[in-house]
Amino acid sequence: MNNQNTAAKLNASTFDVEKIRADFPILQQHVNGKPLVYLDNAATAQKPKQVIETLDTYYREYNSNIHRGVHTLSQKATDAYESAREKVKTFLNANSSKEIIFTRGATEAINLVAQSFGRDTISVGDEIIITELEHHSNIVPWQLLCEQTGATLRYIPINDAGELILEEYEKLLNKKTSIVAVGHISNALGTINPIKTIIDKAHAVGAKVLIDGAQAVPHTKADVQELDCDFYVFSGHKLFGPTGIGVLYGKEALLDAMPPYQGGGDMIQTVSMTKSTFNALPHKFEAGTPHIAGVIGLGAAIDYVNAIDIDVTAQYENELLDYANEQAAQITDLNFVGTAQNKTSILSFTLGRIHPHDIGTILDGEGVAIRAGHHCAMPVMERFEIPATARASFAFYNTREEVDALIQAIDKCIMVFG
Ligand code: ALA
Repeated sequence: MNNQNTAAKLNASTFDVEKIRADFPILQQHVNGKPLVYLDNAATAQKPKQVIETLDTYYREYNSNIHRGVHTLSQKATDAYESAREKVKTFLNANSSKEIIFTRGATEAINLVAQSFGRDTISVGDEIIITELEHHSNIVPWQLLCEQTGATLRYIPINDAGELILEEYEKLLNKKTSIVAVGHISNALGTINPIKTIIDKAHAVGAKVLIDGAQAVPHTKADVQELDCDFYVFSGHKLFGPTGIGVLYGKEALLDAMPPYQGGGDMIQTVSMTKSTFNALPHKFEAGTPHIAGVIGLGAAIDYVNAIDIDVTAQYENELLDYANEQAAQITDLNFVGTAQNKTSILSFTLGRIHPHDIGTILDGEGVAIRAGHHCAMPVMERFEIPATARASFAFYNTREEVDALIQAIDKCIMVFG
C-alpha cells in the first residue's frame, strides 16, 4: 500500500522506537487508568523534550523582543529567531531565507496567499482549482477570494479509494486557471497526492501552485526547488513543534511583488501620516511582534526531525500502518475510508452503525486517543456519504503494541454497542 524504499527498509527494522519515545514526556502517562496510546498525531503531534526545553530556556534566559533592541537579550532572541528561519530554509531546500515567512500556522499562510497574491492577481473570469480532498483551510480562503473577485472555484474529484482523478484535473485546466491549491497529503484519509505532476501541469497553463504540506512534512521530504511549487505551507505543531506557528514558503519574485497582508510594526520601512513604505522580505509579511518562542521552538523541532532519518521513520510508519490495516481488516463491520495505493500514517474508518464519536469515547476509556469527526474536511465526508469517521493517525513514536491496544479497544466498542 505504501511507498517502498529499499535502503530505508533495511534500517527501519533497527529503528529504536523506545529510545525515541523516551524523548516524549507526555507519552509516559496513564489516561483513564490505562497507558496512553496517542493516535491523534494528525490533529497535533507531541513534543520532544528538546523542543520543550528550548521553549523553557527562551522564557527563562533570553525572553526579549526581536529586531528592535540593541541590548544583549534582544540580540540573542533575534539571532535564535533568524537562525530558525535558516533551519526552515534548509528543511524545505528553499533558495533563500527571504522566501520563508513565519505565520500562525498553515491556515494563516494560505489566507495570506489568497488575500495578498490572490487579490492582487485574480479577477472576474479567472479560475482556481482545488480538490475534494482538501482541509477546510485550503477551501474557505479560496471561496472567500472567489466571492471577492468573481473568480470561479473548481474541484478535482476523487475516486472511491480517495485518490485524485488526474484525467478530470486535466479537463479542468485551461488558460483561465490562475491558481491550483492542493494538499500534499490528505489529513482525513492519508492519501499522498502526485503533487509534482499536478504542479507541472498547472505551470503548463501558466497557473501558480500552492501546496498545503501541513500533513506531509512529519512524514515525507518536501523539496520546494525540486517540486518547483510557487508556495508551500506547513504548521509547526504537526511537526513536533509548538502550536501557533507555521511557515509560508514562496518564490522570492512572487513574494516581492505581493502587497503586505497585515500592517503594523516591523513590516514597514518608513511611516508618515500620509504614507508608509514597506520592509524587505521576509519582514514585509511579519507584522507585529511575532511568536518568537514558537519560531525558536520550531527550529528545535526541525533539529530533532533532522537528527532522525526521515526515510527510515517514513518506512517505519508505513510498516506500522500496514500492520494496523491487516489487524483492522479482521474486524467485521469495520469499513476503511480511504484506501489509496499511495498513502501514509492514517487509518480512517467507520464501524457498522456505531457513531464515530461513540467509538472515540469508548477508545478514550481504554487510554486510546483518536479523532472522531469530519476532520475539517467536510467535502471528503460528503463524497463518501458519511457524517464522520474515526481516525487513528500515526507518528514515528507509535508502536505495534499500541496498534494492538487500538484493535482491542475497537473490539470492546463492538461489545459495548452489540
Ligand atoms: N487539521 C487537524 C486534523 O486533521 C486539526 O485533525
